[in-house]
Amino acid sequence: MKRLDGKLALITGAARGIGLEFAARYLEEGAQVVLGDINLEAAEKAAADLGTGAFAAHIDVTDQASIENCVNGVVADHGGIDILINNAALFDLAGIPDITRASFDKLFAVNVSGTLFTMQAVARSMITRGQGGRIINMASQAGRRGEALVGVYCATKAAVISLTQSAGLNLIEHGINVNAIAPGVVEGDHWEHVDALFAKAEGLKPGEKKAAVGAAVPFGRMGRADDLTGMAVFLASTDADYIVAQTYNVDGGNWMS
Ligand SMILES: NC(=O)c1ccc[n+]([C@@H]2O[C@H](COP(=O)([O-])OP(=O)(O)OC[C@H]3O[C@@H](n4cnc5c(N)ncnc54)[C@H](O)[C@@H]3O)[C@@H](O)[C@H]2O)c1
Repeated sequence: MKRLDGKLALITGAARGIGLEFAARYLEEGAQVVLGDINLEAAEKAAADLGTGAFAAHIDVTDQASIENCVNGVVADHGGIDILINNAALFDLAGIPDITRASFDKLFAVNVSGTLFTMQAVARSMITRGQGGRIINMASQAGRRGEALVGVYCATKAAVISLTQSAGLNLIEHGINVNAIAPGVVEGDHWEHVDALFAKAEGLKPGEKKAAVGAAVPFGRMGRADDLTGMAVFLASTDADYIVAQTYNVDGGNWMS
């Protein structure tokens, strides 16, 4: 018996990176997985590569109609959603004098509104079905404290931690456990983008920021997406039945709370 046998998981932003790694691990644990992404072509390719039990769906978490189409479609096709991972997010970098309203609006639309209204749509479907469920929101160490050049992203992830607390308290009466994972610094396309932004802002060579943040992790290296999958399985499993409204740091020791 695998830990997620018979479960259906919807993972947003799963065409690449951490979301894709979650999808692969959930399949190994017996779940079926819908890879939701704004980049449908990439999600379809990723689902085809993963094989049986993996499906792709278009979702733009900034668009209410798209969220509802996706959630209704997954429910119609699979009979219901047992697990949601709210994983889609964007990053940007600017000091306070240089933050643009466009960047602020975009990051809050994806990272905060996207998380809230995808959570709402899936929670409604779980309440209607009456079998409870699991919702895992992707926060970040960036949500634990500010960073000089990362003010907007940090604020979005602090909001994700706060929404996880409120939703956790609100939805547990329906048997829906809402919790979050706060990674530290994780190798992948996302951090290549972050490194390039820091190189420009701080006059560094490509790769320099990444090497520095990796060396600063108490564990001794940057995280990898597969460092996070154990927590994502645990929070979706019956071992986590009594865990509500929490955010877990999985960051090699970067933050303690
Ligand atoms: N990589 C890290 O170092 C790190 C650290 C802390 C937290 N996190 C968080 O983990 C999660 C996954 O990060 P990642 O590194 O895999 O990111 P990533 O940038 O590699 O992947 C993000 C995915 O989200 C999709 N996406 C973007 N906008 C979307 C939208 N509007 N609707 C639907 N999908 C959309 C993208 O197409 C992409 O496939 C994010 O929430 C991120 O903030 C990452």
